[in-house]
Amino acid sequence: MIEVLNSADDLARQKWDVLVPTMGALHAGHQSLIKIAQNYGQKIAVSIFVNPLQFENKNDLHNYPKNIEADLQLAYKAGATAVFLPSEIEIYPGKIEKVDAGLLGDLYEGAARAGHFSGVLTVVKRLFELVKPKFAVFGEKDYQQLFLIKQMVKKFQLPIDIISAPTIRDQNNLALSSRNTRLSEQEKQVANVIFQALSTENLQLASAVLKKQPSFKLDYLNLIDEDSFAEAVPSTKNKRLIVAGWVNQVRLIDNIAIGGR
Ligand code: PAF
Repeated sequence: MIEVLNSADDLARQKWDVLVPTMGALHAGHQSLIKIAQNYGQKIAVSIFVNPLQFENKNDLHNYPKNIEADLQLAYKAGATAVFLPSEIEIYPGKIEKVDAGLLGDLYEGAARAGHFSGVLTVVKRLFELVKPKFAVFGEKDYQQLFLIKQMVKKFQLPIDIISAPTIRDQNNLALSSRNTRLSEQEKQVANVIFQALSTENLQLASAVLKKQPSFKLDYLNLIDEDSFAEAVPSTKNKRLIVAGWVNQVRLIDNIAIGGR
């Protein structure tokens, strides 16, 4: 069975090549992150910590799916060396020095979830300090999160390389997420409109596709410059369509690179 580490002292007994940070409820998307981690070293730590700082909605925090036994199995089978399962006090032992997510922290996902990205950056920085890996792997599904983490690494000159991993989708192209378990079969059908829209790779066409599905409540749909996260202009080299919206009570996000990068 996989090794379970709970403290900074446990971690310090070994040197870690790669960290895969998660909040548990692991699925095939996380499995692929762990598999990608194997390209960057042999000692792979998967952290599982449901970070209260990034939940602006305490109900969401309370209802976050937990299944540690299944998580340990999945991490083991995917090829992780150890799972780091810290307590809250291990992560936040004293006064919390929050990382500022800047202006972008308040846009898109940040506009819907005040303080969310500051919470994400704060815990990710702390995990980097504790595990001290050479690499960390994050999924492209949370594209704004990935962008902000890369920006933080640059700003604080953290000695770590961030690896981006492609989004894993189900047979209907719905991006895998721990939240999908809260969707009924009928709601999943509605959610399929998201990829139908993105695969047009065009802002106007995507908007028209989404409008045809009245059960999908759009939050935002934007064409951004991948290198700055500003709105794309015609001369932008690397464009990406990003989208978020609700299917009943479940908030879903997704994105696609324009031109199939
Ligand atoms: O993407 C997630 O699961 C979380 O935001 C992360 C990066 C593990 C930080 O809590």
